[in-house]
Amino acid sequence: MKYIRDHENLNQKKVLLRLDLNVPLKNGVITDQTRIDKILPIINFLLSKNSRIIVVSHVGRPRGEKKKDLSMKPICEYLEKKINKKIKLISDDISKLEKEDLFVEKYDEIICLENIRFNKEEEKNDTSFAKQLAGLADLFVNDAFSCSHRAHTSVSKITEFLPSFAGLQLEAELTALKKVTSEIKKPITCIIGGSKISSKIGIIKNLIPKFNNIILVGGMANNILNHKGNQIGKSVKEENCEKIIEEIFETSKQYSCSITYPVDVLVGKNLKSVSKAKELDEIGEDDLILDIGPKTINAIKKVIENSETVLWNGPAGYFENPNFANGSYEIAKAIIKKNKNKSIYSVVGGGDTIALINDIKAIKDFNFVSTAGGAFLEYLEGKDLPGIKALS
Ligand code: 3PG
Repeated sequence: MKYIRDHENLNQKKVLLRLDLNVPLKNGVITDQTRIDKILPIINFLLSKNSRIIVVSHVGRPRGEKKKDLSMKPICEYLEKKINKKIKLISDDISKLEKEDLFVEKYDEIICLENIRFNKEEEKNDTSFAKQLAGLADLFVNDAFSCSHRAHTSVSKITEFLPSFAGLQLEAELTALKKVTSEIKKPITCIIGGSKISSKIGIIKNLIPKFNNIILVGGMANNILNHKGNQIGKSVKEENCEKIIEEIFETSKQYSCSITYPVDVLVGKNLKSVSKAKELDEIGEDDLILDIGPKTINAIKKVIENSETVLWNGPAGYFENPNFANGSYEIAKAIIKKNKNKSIYSVVGGGDTIALINDIKAIKDFNFVSTAGGAFLEYLEGKDLPGIKALS
């Protein structure tokens, strides 16, 4: 792998910089800036080398359609303030852009392309789209470890058409995760929550052999509860997961990995509701499961108490509504308590989980904070990540 920090001459070079600026947005306002703050070093590094930067990122999952609420505009505005430089947001059709159209003014140092997933070719790892993008720059830098599990054009295919390098944040994340996986202390526990069920449920089976305990919370736990014959009302769930769930439990027996999932829950009638604690057999047809209940919290605390290493990815509930944030806060508190007396090594990853621990100003109370969610889990699984493979 080639590292951008070793590049000898970046002067006036046009750098296509893939970042993960997929930050949570509410009515056009960024609710957690961590991912942006983490890429300031690469921007400042490239500026110090007098490069011209073309920022490429996605926000959300617009699936090839232009969506105003998923524009890069608020992100560019925040970034402009942070680096105190103007950033030109280019919303033009990428297929019509020419290298000469960019950086026309003398003071143009950074431009940003509009949400790359507005182009349907992006998620297809499309060759002509990659050539078109590559034609805008002299070299490519991937500083988006958290997107490197996606075989998408601006992460993977692009590397076939430009000299390609690992960025500073990507390098830092890889170094830290390598350390976690090679120098691990057992018992080791993995807590998986969040709402991206489809991205995560298939991974669990492969994680089982590597962990002593797996704790399943958040949206994914609904699938488990439903599989075990419980009513889950209107709660989110993924279709066609029966076989995967059976395999998860079979594999866990084979490897003596204990699986913890909710034994009680907090429900609401909608996302804005107040919370009501319910036993599993009390969940009604019009209930939404939005957090774990007190008995589940106690069970999870016991597992954390007996762990030497904990990796946590994805909140336990819909923490955006404070009525459903308690489960996640209690998990955070249990880890922090052990971290304070240095009796646990803790790694936390994923945009929502970071937002949550930022809310309680606890980011420094974990040993390592990864910006990656899905990529973090796939790396732990031992998979070759397409974006990393493409750089190697
Ligand atoms: C993330 O938030 O994990 C990354 O930005 C990747 O997003 P995706 O799951 O929509 O590909």
